[in-house]
Amino acid sequence: MARETSVIRLRKIDHVCLRVGDVAEAAPRYAIQFGLTIRDLASDRATLACDYEPYSLELVAAGPGEELGFAHCAWQLRRSVPLEAARDWLKSTWESWDDRGDHLVVADPEGVEHHLVPYLHEDDRRPAVARRTSDLPALRPRKLGHINRLTADMEGVTRFHADVLGMEISDYLEDAGTWLHVSSEHHQMALVSSAAPHFHHIAFDYVDFGALRSLFDNLASHGRWLSWGPVRHGIAQNMCGYVRITEEPLHVECYCDMEQLEPEHEPRTFPDDRFSSNTWGPLPPRSYFRFDAAAIESERESLETRGIPLPPVSG
Ligand SMILES: [Fe+2]
Repeated sequence: MARETSVIRLRKIDHVCLRVGDVAEAAPRYAIQFGLTIRDLASDRATLACDYEPYSLELVAAGPGEELGFAHCAWQLRRSVPLEAARDWLKSTWESWDDRGDHLVVADPEGVEHHLVPYLHEDDRRPAVARRTSDLPALRPRKLGHINRLTADMEGVTRFHADVLGMEISDYLEDAGTWLHVSSEHHQMALVSSAAPHFHHIAFDYVDFGALRSLFDNLASHGRWLSWGPVRHGIAQNMCGYVRITEEPLHVECYCDMEQLEPEHEPRTFPDDRFSSNTWGPLPPRSYFRFDAAAIESERESLETRGIPLPPVSG
């Protein structure tokens, strides 16, 4: 199996790029609501940071006919893996990729775009609490931690992340979900089985449950609601809430206390029951897995919990 000889090893998620309708509107929205810091802002592109990193969120203006939402995810290579090695690896491993000089672009079996970017050497490698800033706000995420998507090709997409991107399996939720990691944190990539493939969420890591309390109060004051949560996941252990983003079709998960995996972690298979998803009990409303107008309206008015079923997807 290619896994044995994989020379690609990833360090972390570098950034996620979203297509937005209006960069000038979206950049300050993400900044003030989630505690991000705008690094660059132009009419067609903005970058935002969680903490001291260059940026974790890239917003680009959607072109004519382009759908809003997820555009690509960039993965940073480990220190021991130069871009040249990643280039050689892709040449021998995968057909559908593109050399952009300073980064590589690869499409997975469902056409989702991944970028491979070189290791970033940071001059100051001390933890954030040991550093000094005059521009980062109080309520900010520690990092962009993972992404999650709904896939109709669980086997093919899992194989891509393991064999081509060199990720390791963290855990399985029977056939319904697969979690993958590149570091000791439980996952950087999560795949959930669905007949309707769609990007599901980006996830920001906040320091603890107290920070989440302040954050969710802040989001509520900006008119946001939680599509699910607060939740304690059985798989991955994180406590979190999922924030519905109506402007772009996705959720933002805000989490803390994710499980740290031991070296040579052995993947586990969790039973597909509600406690694997939420040790505190409730499963999400079905609207949580949808991004159409009816689902958002149902969620906005909490219709499912008031006994009014979610209508089928129209069209
Ligand atoms: Fe997540």
